[in-house]
Amino acid sequence: HGSNLADKLGYRIFLVGGIVRDLILNINNYDIDLVIEGDGLEFARELNEILNGEINTYDQFKTASIVTKDGIKIDIATARREFYEFPAALPQVEQSSIKFDLYRRDFTINTLAISLNRDTFGILLDFFGGEKDIIDRKIKILYNLSFIEDPIRIFRAVRFKHRLGFKIDDNTWELARNAVKSDVMHEISFQRIKEELYIIFDEVNTVDILNDLKKLGILKEIFPEISSWDKVFSMIAQCKKGIEWYKSISKTSEKLNNRFLYSIIFCYLSESDEDLYKKFGLSKNQREIIRFIRIKGREIIGKVTQDDIKPFELFSLLKDIPDEGLIFLTILSKKKRQMKNRVKQFITELRSIRIYITGKDLEELGVKPGPLYKEIINKIYREKINGKIKTRE
Ligand code: CTP
Repeated sequence: HGSNLADKLGYRIFLVGGIVRDLILNINNYDIDLVIEGDGLEFARELNEILNGEINTYDQFKTASIVTKDGIKIDIATARREFYEFPAALPQVEQSSIKFDLYRRDFTINTLAISLNRDTFGILLDFFGGEKDIIDRKIKILYNLSFIEDPIRIFRAVRFKHRLGFKIDDNTWELARNAVKSDVMHEISFQRIKEELYIIFDEVNTVDILNDLKKLGILKEIFPEISSWDKVFSMIAQCKKGIEWYKSISKTSEKLNNRFLYSIIFCYLSESDEDLYKKFGLSKNQREIIRFIRIKGREIIGKVTQDDIKPFELFSLLKDIPDEGLIFLTILSKKKRQMKNRVKQFITELRSIRIYITGKDLEELGVKPGPLYKEIINKIYREKINGKIKTRE
């Protein structure tokens, strides 16, 4: 559809960026990035007429994004324009081309484009040696000021290195180090850093990525509150296993907020957690949970892992802690197996126990309404959780 439409409108159309890289590497990628030489917004609107998906347009940037009914995401950009000011009276010249658009990108491996117009369908455009760098498994920036212009690219370099099993080119690594030394990290908002961190948390090799960021001097710049990175790394590694364990025992793993779980680790291990609450943008409720874990966490672990704990006591100790906090406590505990067994018992058995008696039943039994109701119901609940009451009746 895209090819026909672009031909009809008289525009050049290209598939670009990560998806082309991943095609060459034989990796699945369902994010389609298109660049249009022409009016990208008009193209996007007409394409969506055909696809009938959801469209968002960003008029200021001349970009649009469509999500098809099958959930495929298509980003459409208008080839960026470069303006050249000529001296004296010559008019401003505007050029719009795919090559300029690709030159503005982060690494050579992301600068490949495939033409999608019918007459040139499938032709690979490789202006900056991207294909060779993919084959050589190298991450290279295109121009020396790249990291200064956009320091987020340093995070991306390290992320691609570990995701794809590539090497960062020596010169690129040096430029990244120099950029960090010249204080660029303070020029970007923590919001952008945070978004990049969240992507890193979801990667398989999170700890390796963070370790490289540490080597580049980035971590101490963005988290001066944290002194022991070894502890953070060790907890993150355990956290990954904890999430897998949780998924294996719980049927509702999609509810788990991994970001919050990782923020707990950072806040717990920081010297001034209040600053980190703000940086991570935690809600009041989330802050209270972390404060609670800081103050009571070890005491709760101690009680939960006692040999003779009764089910109701276990239930009472854990009932107000969200699942992210429960996973965190299993990481924190020294008696891990015992702790996991108890948390599992709580999640899979105890917390779904219900009682069916109501105030109405008590009234029918002749109990006068009053505080006694609550006491009776609590006691029944306790005995049911402790396993003494076995039937609904
Ligand atoms: N890009 C960039 N600088 C950034 C972010 C993105 O130059 N700070 C460019 C990259 O060249 C990338 C394109 O914008 O190919 C699209 O960005 P994104 O979708 O984030 O990158 P992908 O390469 O598709 O990576 P991912 O696999 O993480 O989606």
